Formats: sequence, structure tokens, C-alpha cells
Amino acid sequence: MDKPIIAPSILAADFANLQQEVEMLNESDADWIHVDIMDGIFVPNISFGIPVTEAISNHAKKPLDVHLMIEKPENYVEAFYKAGAASISVHYEACPHLHRNLQQIKDLGCKAGVAINPHTNVQLLEDVIHDIDIVCLMSVNPGFGGQKFIENTYVKVRQLKEIIADAGAHTLIEIDGGVNQQNARQLLDAGANILVAGSFVFKSSDPKGTITGLKNV
Ligand code: DX5
Ligand code: ZN
Repeated sequence: MDKPIIAPSILAADFANLQQEVEMLNESDADWIHVDIMDGIFVPNISFGIPVTEAISNHAKKPLDVHLMIEKPENYVEAFYKAGAASISVHYEACPHLHRNLQQIKDLGCKAGVAINPHTNVQLLEDVIHDIDIVCLMSVNPGFGGQKFIENTYVKVRQLKEIIADAGAHTLIEIDGGVNQQNARQLLDAGANILVAGSFVFKSSDPKGTITGLKNV
């Protein structure tokens, strides 16, 4: 089996030492850096925005995977691309014109992702699956790091895997929220390709070792 793409979420990092945290990720087995953007409207929390993303990008040697938990993402996609995003995910629940949003992201040359909340059925993505590079399955309700993994996610991964296979698409499945060494194996067995991990990595005594552990789970 291919090794997973590991995308530590910088949301759980020490923001007062962001450069050191990014340098730690540069030296680690992390593949991408997951960047969580929250607007206080789509989700009940505010994280950080474009200047901080650019600051991360200035030191990062790994691609930035930007997760937009915001209303009207179309107004900000280009700014995040200019700030250094390699992939940009928008939320299904925030996009009445999802197909258009995906084309906008692709036209910039970024990988286009769609994130879905725990209650959103994966079948709703069937008609656009060929346009999606990454489906980000939320395994917690978006808005906060450090929450408990929702077990129903395994079922969703298997259902989504089937939709992707039936369509002959190349979409990658990303899992975001509550990922740790315990659930990683089962997620990969179900068909996940990318694991996002925030608290599990940054709150551990050896973040680099924890990343390596996830990579080789
Ligand atoms: C939740 C964010 C996640 C989160 C993951 O709204 O999208 O990326 O930071 O953090 P942990 O791994 O702590 O659940
Ligand atoms: Zn995220």
C-alpha cells in the first residue's frame, strides 16, 4: 500500500514561534502543511488569514494545503493563491455554485478541494467528482482543533472511495479532525490518502517522531 500524505495542521502550532514550527515541519516527514482559515461566520471561531499564510509560505519547503472554512470563498481564493497555497479546499456547505468555485481554483493552477461537514452525504459530490482533486472529509465539526474523531467517518471514506472508483476519477481522500496513531491505520484501510493532524502532532513531546509514526503507520 502507498504511504499516506501527511499534512500537519499549523493551527495547533505555537503561533509565537511560527517560523521554528514551520522549520520543524520542513525537516520532518510531513508532505504538506495544512492551513486552517476560519472566518467566525461559517464556523464559530476565527483563526488567521492571508498575511499569516504568506508568512508561513515564506519559510515553508512543503506545499501549503489551505482549508477555507469561510463564507464566499470565491472572494479570497486568489489572495490565498498569491499567499502561497498549492491546494485550496472550499466547503460544500458554503458554495451554492461549487462547480464554478472549483474551476476558479483550477484556473489559478492550484489543486481544487471540497471539504464536507460530518452531516453532509458524500453522494452530493457525485456529479462533480471529476472536477475535484481532493475531498476533505471532516471527521469533527469544523471550527476547532483538538476535538474527538467521529467514528462514522470510516463509512464515509468507503462510500466515497466507491464513488471515485466507479467514476474512474483520481480524487484523493483527506481526513481532517481528531486523527491520531490509533485511527490512522483504519482510515487508510478504508481508502484515505491524506491525513491531517493538528493536536496529535504539535501537542506531542516529539512532533517530528509523531509525524514519522503517522507516515509509517
Ligand atoms: C478543524 C480543522 C482541522 C483541525 C485539526 O476545524 O479543520 O484541520 O485543526 O486538528 P486536530 O488534529 O487537533 O483535530
Ligand atoms: Zn482543516
